[in-house]
Amino acid sequence: MILRIPETYGKIREATSELRFDMASDLYTGSLLKTLVAAKPAGLFLELGTGTGLATAWIAAGMDEQSSLVSVENNAILIEVARKYIADSRVTLVLMDAYEWILNYKGPGFDLIFADAMPGKYDLFDETIGILNSGGFYIIDDMLPQPNWPAGHAEKVEHFIRQMEDRDDLLTTKMNWSTGIMIVVKK
Ligand SMILES: C[S@@+](CC[C@H](N)C(=O)[O-])C[C@H]1O[C@@H](n2cnc3c(N)ncnc32)[C@H](O)[C@@H]1O
Repeated sequence: MILRIPETYGKIREATSELRFDMASDLYTGSLLKTLVAAKPAGLFLELGTGTGLATAWIAAGMDEQSSLVSVENNAILIEVARKYIADSRVTLVLMDAYEWILNYKGPGFDLIFADAMPGKYDLFDETIGILNSGGFYIIDDMLPQPNWPAGHAEKVEHFIRQMEDRDDLLTTKMNWSTGIMIVVKK
């Protein structure tokens, strides 16, 4: 049973169903993100792939007043839902291609990155780890086989996991839970 679901979650969930957006993150992922960001007071957090803002709402719910979150999405219709329901001065919602955003980012490092789109996960992985602070969390979901995986994706996932596990600067835990979450920490 997942408790203390963010207040805005129900409304965003409804709008998400109306749009038939089927890539939304689940409650387990949200709850974990909320818990992990609470471990980083005055933290700076990044979400790649806002969607309609379900995980965004969870991350914001775990943040203290000094923390802030940047969330990047390239679909105007989806991010509009997040904009409508998440009015929070600590949260910046960026409508932009995340490939471009990652490559151009020059600001301070992040304490947690939820990489929920191709850029930052299967693409531009090194660049994304490059903007994660030491001791920062890199979180990804959908690492267990999902019904919507296209042909060839399972091999891509295997290769990606090996790529992370081969790096000496990363500590990794693969969880057979939710959609298959990996918790990665940068030394
Ligand atoms: C798995 S969904 C995100 C789900 C969301 N984080 C949640 O909690 O429900 C992936 C999102 O990445 C977005 N996306 C895909 N390619 C992108 C890109 N190049 N730049 C920014 N966003 C992208 C998609 O539009 C989609 O909303």
